[in-house]
Amino acid sequence: MKLCIIGTGYVGLVTGVCFSDLGNNVICVDNNINKIQNLKKGIIPIYEPGLEELVKKNYKENRLNFTTNLKFAVNNSNIIFICVGTPTKKNSYSADLNQLYNVVKSIRNYINKFKVIVTKSTVPLTTGDHIDKIISQKKSKNLFSVVSNPEFLREGEAIRDFMYPDRIVIGTNNIRANNILKNLYDPIIKRGIKYLNTSRRGAELIKYASNAFLATKISYINEIANLCEKTGVNIEDVSIGMGLDQRIGSRFLRPGPAFGGSCFPKDTRAILSTAKKFKTNLSIIKSTIKSNEQRHGILLDKIKKILKNKIKNKKITFLGVTFKPNTDDMRESSSLKLIPKLHKSGAVISYYDPSGIKNNFQKYKNVNFVDKISTACKNSDLIILHTEWNEFKNLNFTKLVKKKNFAIYDMRNVYSHKRMLVNKINYFGIGR
Ligand code: UGA
Repeated sequence: MKLCIIGTGYVGLVTGVCFSDLGNNVICVDNNINKIQNLKKGIIPIYEPGLEELVKKNYKENRLNFTTNLKFAVNNSNIIFICVGTPTKKNSYSADLNQLYNVVKSIRNYINKFKVIVTKSTVPLTTGDHIDKIISQKKSKNLFSVVSNPEFLREGEAIRDFMYPDRIVIGTNNIRANNILKNLYDPIIKRGIKYLNTSRRGAELIKYASNAFLATKISYINEIANLCEKTGVNIEDVSIGMGLDQRIGSRFLRPGPAFGGSCFPKDTRAILSTAKKFKTNLSIIKSTIKSNEQRHGILLDKIKKILKNKIKNKKITFLGVTFKPNTDDMRESSSLKLIPKLHKSGAVISYYDPSGIKNNFQKYKNVNFVDKISTACKNSDLIILHTEWNEFKNLNFTKLVKKKNFAIYDMRNVYSHKRMLVNKINYFGIGR
């Protein structure tokens, strides 16, 4: 099949590359010339395991192409995926759809025969209706069909999530469009993956309701972890015990610093904004957002307690600063809240992250990137395991740290509490 993917960000690039790897002809379009030129050379703008190899392979085999020419891309494809960003508007909870509507206004000029126009970007409920309306102003209804096909890709796991998803959701009442997309996804459906055809609005809501539910699950377990700390219960027992109930499920029950990334914080806010428009009170999601925002205060109180209220001049090491491992993404990472607050209290901070130095901390005098775990830990009073990259999982802290009485605050419960006790390390986890 002939596909065009508009927007070569994280979602667009993964979608385009994976569809080309499944044997389709894919044209990826972006208005950023630099990005397109780099992609042609195999230079990938994001950090995503496995992506570079797939881009190079499919580009070489001529199934994958990159261009800035939207007209050419639309004219030469039957299915158009819109994958542009839908960030949060400034000073508001709602999603900014400017990029998306600009794309729609451009592509409607180039529709020369029947096209299925698919939104992969996370778009608020009823966006498909608006797209339909905008295109209908210039093109006959029988020349296009607007479909919602939300993505469920996790950063760092995106290729696997694309090729082996839990489900494929297609929101359309148009039989022709549904058949075309079912054919496109056929190689994945054949692996036994569920294909769900819903209304367009239904698909739009499935995406937000899923992300908000997962975010709620995390906030829920984070709050239960707070209770565990006060009562001497081990949160891991609770997560395992809860997760064994198949109605609950074991995934996304790991307590941590606070959920972050480009999706959960943005999407929980956006669904509230949509609900407000439709005069519906989503009080649980409101609480989830509040709970997540308050989490930094709880973690900072704990850090103060570990350092016996003396933060000034204390050497604190952050192992990992990204919002999760296997990504270089800093968006809404809890380190962005924790590090500036500790710096303000007079701490001297070193951080090491496998994805490298971060611009976010350049402006702070006493926050420094070091390129080795050993240098980062050597003179530390407190080591904070913030992001659970694999390379942090087997460290020998008694050898790494030269200071006596240093402490470890393991915000991801990576290390064995027992082993830390045996090694006489002042160790704190989350909820245990
Ligand atoms: C999330 C969803 O998981 C994807 O299904 C969805 O497609 C994507 O958003 C999106 O809307 O595009 P992602 O933001 O990449 O994916 O990251 P997650 O793996 O979901 O993690 C989000 C945050 O929750 C991270 O800060 C992570 O550390 C935290 N988390 C996750 C926990 O604290 N505990 C858990 O048990 C799981």
